[in-house]
Amino acid sequence: MRILITGGAGFIGSHLTEACLHRGDEVYIIDDLSTGSMANLASLQSDPAVKDRLFVTVDSILNTEPILELIGTCDVVFHLAAAVGVRYILENPLESIQTNIQGTEKILRLCNKFKKRVLIASTSEVYGKHLHAPLVETDNIIYGPSSKFRWSYAAAKLMDEFTALAYHRTNGLPAIIARLFNTVGPRQTGTYGMVIPRFVSQALANQPISVYGDGKQTRTFTYVNDVVHALMALMDHPDAPGEVFNIGGTEEVSILTLAEKIKTQTHSGSPIEFIPYTRAFGKDFEDMQRRVPGIDKIRSLIGFEPVTGLERILESVIEDQKNNTMVPKTP
Ligand SMILES: NC(=O)c1ccc[n+]([C@@H]2O[C@H](COP(=O)([O-])OP(=O)(O)OC[C@H]3O[C@@H](n4cnc5c(N)ncnc54)[C@H](O)[C@@H]3O)[C@@H](O)[C@H]2O)c1
Repeated sequence: MRILITGGAGFIGSHLTEACLHRGDEVYIIDDLSTGSMANLASLQSDPAVKDRLFVTVDSILNTEPILELIGTCDVVFHLAAAVGVRYILENPLESIQTNIQGTEKILRLCNKFKKRVLIASTSEVYGKHLHAPLVETDNIIYGPSSKFRWSYAAAKLMDEFTALAYHRTNGLPAIIARLFNTVGPRQTGTYGMVIPRFVSQALANQPISVYGDGKQTRTFTYVNDVVHALMALMDHPDAPGEVFNIGGTEEVSILTLAEKIKTQTHSGSPIEFIPYTRAFGKDFEDMQRRVPGIDKIRSLIGFEPVTGLERILESVIEDQKNNTMVPKTP
């Protein structure tokens, strides 16, 4: 099969590329390298078993010409390219909205033109400020005011979901929506606000581990290979189009506990310091206190289980940052 992965040089995209290549697919990537990196693909580009089936275009999804040709060529499209990360969104508000709304609309319009199956990577951020758990796909959505720019990412991704569902209803486009919760693993960068790689690099450098707010906010973390297997299974399932699926872990942990676990697992002497949100992100930020997915829907369709526990996930990120080589396989 010929697979197009937008954002394929990014964190999740590069793992998805690896899995598709090892399945025997041809993989076509378009990525503008804004947050992704060719280094994420280096081992695949030098692997004789797969390198002849990997084709990379460095360009933006906002440019019609390369996208038109790539979607025309490929059988299915995983649309992962997006402006991602709290810090990146706050620092690049306009460009982020353009990529996340216009870019996705373009992908969907061209997938519709060629009638290609497409999976859109959405996010748990679309749920907004809920305190209850678990969050299920039919829950209402609660956002803060438009002056708080962090909600622009959630609102843009929600618009992507509406657009995909509208193409499905109006034109029968086989579009699938995956709402990813915090996904972690080797090759993720902490530069744009992702918590685990940031804490691990601080701990390994014996620098203070900086917890934003009081650290009582909770998250779940899913290992990237578990997520990749779910994305591939959804793409292949005949009943997935026109539906929204949570993909996430179920082990809820506070950010303070996470910092303590990372300190222990790295044997670090780093102190844990608390930084007010306003100092970390400015006045346009507010946090979500809790984010735990309900996964009954995806479990019953494809048998999804987040099999990799937090300790193992942290181990893999620590090892990756120490030597940049180890990418553990899920059972
Ligand atoms: N990592 C997570 O925890 C998480 C959670 C929820 C949703 N997601 C979604 O998963 C997808 C992948 O995220 P990731 O964590 O791998 O982040 P990432 O930043 O590593 O990947 C995004 C990729 O898109 C590329 N890109 C950005 N704008 C582009 C453009 N205009 N044209 C072409 N390429 C462009 C970037 O260079 C990067 O390689 C995103 O759509 C994101 O919203 C991720």
